[in-house]
Amino acid sequence: MNTDTLESLKEVALSAFAEAKSIEALRVEEVKFLGRKSEFNQFLKSLASLSPEERRLVGGRANEVKREILDAFEAARIRLESAGFDAEKEWVDVTDPGEKLPVGHLHILTRVEREICDIFRSLGFAIADGPEVETEFYNFDALNIPADHPARDMQDTFWLHQKSGSKERSVVNKKSPRLLLRTHTSPVQVRYMETHTPPFRIIVPGRIFRSEATDASHEHTFYQFESLFVDTDVSVGNFKYVAELFFSRFFGKHISVRLRPSYFPFVEPGFEFDIACTMCDGAGCSSCHGTGWLEVGGAGMVNQKVFEAAGYERDRWKGFAWGFGTNRLAMMKYKIPDIRLFQGGDLRFLNQF
Ligand code: DAH
Repeated sequence: MNTDTLESLKEVALSAFAEAKSIEALRVEEVKFLGRKSEFNQFLKSLASLSPEERRLVGGRANEVKREILDAFEAARIRLESAGFDAEKEWVDVTDPGEKLPVGHLHILTRVEREICDIFRSLGFAIADGPEVETEFYNFDALNIPADHPARDMQDTFWLHQKSGSKERSVVNKKSPRLLLRTHTSPVQVRYMETHTPPFRIIVPGRIFRSEATDASHEHTFYQFESLFVDTDVSVGNFKYVAELFFSRFFGKHISVRLRPSYFPFVEPGFEFDIACTMCDGAGCSSCHGTGWLEVGGAGMVNQKVFEAAGYERDRWKGFAWGFGTNRLAMMKYKIPDIRLFQGGDLRFLNQF
């Protein structure tokens, strides 16, 4: 091929591009004139066999021709694409608000947990935290629940496998602990007391675990709030006042609290406490089985043995401690019938909140 052929090739390419009737047809011409196997490309390759002077001469022109062909192709592409634009069909309404992209939101339990924290914060409580993988010492022993105590059976849990030998240990201590998934948030009481001096008031939100068969009101994983109030002069009356204030704020109406004597090894005296039924305000309905009360949690005056386990001097301090289930409160407030819904991952449930 010589430079004449090069010129005529260019003419043919330019008119082919100019005459193309559609983008598809133009693409076919593009391959024909610019593709890897095109005559033009073959020509460029053959330049390698020319002498240096010839190559400079012919090669320079070849590059110019290539540029002209590419420009012609680009012009044809723009012509065909803008011709294909149908202003009738493709107009844009700039005032159209646009499509909303789906965004996630906080889980109902997170929202309830935050709501509860806000109320307690407004009452002067600090928020404390502790580990979900807990030692046997903090979860049980420090709370006056020794290894052979039947109270351990009420909180059967998941133990972690550890290196050989650890199971055999009979004396449980902080240095060589057996590990478990905490069965309640109460262990944070002792952890907090070890590093703080009264007076203080704290709440401990958190996730806990029980080896439970699940049903509409039982889960193996759920959430609790522990609360601890320690000072020199604290009474059961103080507890009842704070509890009524808290539940009234949470439910947005006056809520009475009632105490029933009960037993928890870490408090003395101990109570279970109920709130007036939020459905019938205490009149009696199917939610409260006609009693007018709903069971909410456990409470009591901190057992001096727990103060001792935390390193406090016996009889120096007084305090009340109480705990309740976050899931249960959320269920009452938002009328959620089954505790398993929280972790079921069903968007039809989650998107309601
Ligand atoms: N930790 C107990 C449980 O999970 C609840 C509880 C009872 C907490 C009495 C307390 C208390 O602070 O005083 O069953």
